[in-house]
Amino acid sequence: MKTEYVTIDERSPDMDALHYAGQIIKEGGLVAFPTETVYGLGADALNEKAAAKIYEAKGRPSDNPLIVHITDMADLSRIVRKVPESALVLSEELWPGPLTMIFEKKEIVPDATTGGLSTVAVRFPSNRIAQLLIMESGGFIAAPSANRSGRPSPTLAEHCREDLDGRVDMIIDGGPVGIGVESTIIDMTAKRPELLRPGFVTMEMLEQLLDGIDRDPSLDRTGMPDELSPAPAPRAPGMKYRHYAPRGEMVLVDGDHEAAKEYISGRINEEKEKGKKTAVICADEDRERFGADIVLSYGRRNDYACLARNLFTLLRTCDEKGADVIFAETVPGNGLGDALMNRMRKAAGYRIVNV
Ligand code: TXA
Ligand code: MG
Repeated sequence: MKTEYVTIDERSPDMDALHYAGQIIKEGGLVAFPTETVYGLGADALNEKAAAKIYEAKGRPSDNPLIVHITDMADLSRIVRKVPESALVLSEELWPGPLTMIFEKKEIVPDATTGGLSTVAVRFPSNRIAQLLIMESGGFIAAPSANRSGRPSPTLAEHCREDLDGRVDMIIDGGPVGIGVESTIIDMTAKRPELLRPGFVTMEMLEQLLDGIDRDPSLDRTGMPDELSPAPAPRAPGMKYRHYAPRGEMVLVDGDHEAAKEYISGRINEEKEKGKKTAVICADEDRERFGADIVLSYGRRNDYACLARNLFTLLRTCDEKGADVIFAETVPGNGLGDALMNRMRKAAGYRIVNV
């Protein structure tokens, strides 16, 4: 398949191009497009065959359900059975935005979209290109992140090209995304809402808006699943798969900042002696400190929004440059740090050294 490329400016979107992209989706094709979190790989969510194509293009296991993107609150009740009061509160406050809510699905949503589940994940994105594309496509776009399964999520159109060229009909370049980590997912079907995936909408923000909120216990595991007995199974099926993993071995270092830097410097020397290509992901202020082959900074120290925007790109850069070992410090787990640590722990395969 030949992939078409189009560049669209969010501030003055080319409506002809978006209409054309919407036609592709209406006819059952696949279009990668920007959202405020990461790029998505879109298909018509109500078309069984189209949704099934997404799994093939990504190389994704078909029991891993997709998120349905909408752009009109009135469309929500067309695909879900019941919208609890608490979900209305969250939608009022946080939609459009980086929040996905899970509801009981209606018949109209095919099994291919929900991985056979009786529930459906729904998000109303704030990115203007995404909104217009959803509108032009008939209102319901099923979209996972637009990466090959297992690779870091795409935050630039270039990442979509790397992973999906020749496998999808179109890639829309809308520039770099604003957030950089995937949406927060919360299950609204239980009595108490339950956080399944942390994101830019933080646990603290949700606590303020809800009477109470649970947390999927698998989020707080610290070791590889086989080190726990029994390992709690994540409630969002996709969270169980190998994720974001760079090809090199990533090691997270937790503890006092100076001690962590000392440890990383020592390990870099050791690994270099073994002939390994070393990489470090650090703050601007610490760049000079490390003698690694590849030194990548995410922005100013403690600027976690900046780390979120850059994390997946930096992991991809480690791959491109052939890093064998990658070191990074942990970040505090509150606020946005919850989402960052969730992604970084996965990328590191739960290898964490305490210093
Ligand atoms: O920010 C985002 O959410 C991006 C953009 C494109 O919107 N999308 C995204 O999709 O991250 P994906 O497929 O990479 O992640 C969706 C996650 C998976 O872990 C999946 O298992 C979970 O959502 N999920 C989807 N439907 C679910 C359901 N009915 N019940 C539980 N988990 C569900
Ligand atoms: Mg994904």
